Amino acid sequence: MIKPDAVSAGNTGAITKMIEEAGFRIVAMKKTHLTKERAGQFYAIHKERPFYNDLCTYMSSGPIVPMILEKENAVEDFRKLIGSTDPQKAAPGTIRNLFAKSIEANAIHGSDSDANAEIEGNFFFSRLEQY
Ligand code: CMP
Repeated sequence: MIKPDAVSAGNTGAITKMIEEAGFRIVAMKKTHLTKERAGQFYAIHKERPFYNDLCTYMSSGPIVPMILEKENAVEDFRKLIGSTDPQKAAPGTIRNLFAKSIEANAIHGSDSDANAEIEGNFFFSRLEQY
């Protein structure tokens, strides 16, 4: 999911290019805008964290671009491509190193397991859109 900071900065194309050049197949993709309530549902796992409310406000502040991606070893390889949550710690050349503004507005989200990738894919796309 490309986050509001990266979409509003006009970095959707550059980030998508990096994703494709890294060998991921884009199975589904769209531009959408979460309400604060929907953002809260997406990040429900973090609801006890001190940053949860700000995160939901930020994630509903502008359009996002969720995608379903396919690749061997996709979860691990995608996390390498995007870099650490905190852009100050993200390795050079990673998406967050190049495009993130802060630990909150960090340009992109990647699923942390195959099981969560399925849940998060289903959050944004119907089965018919996943071909
Ligand atoms: P993401 O990988 O999408 O997962 C949870 C998100 O919460 C994270 O990226 C950041 O956008 C945000 N986040 C994580 N840690 C912090 C933090 N310490 N302060 C603010 N936001 C955070």
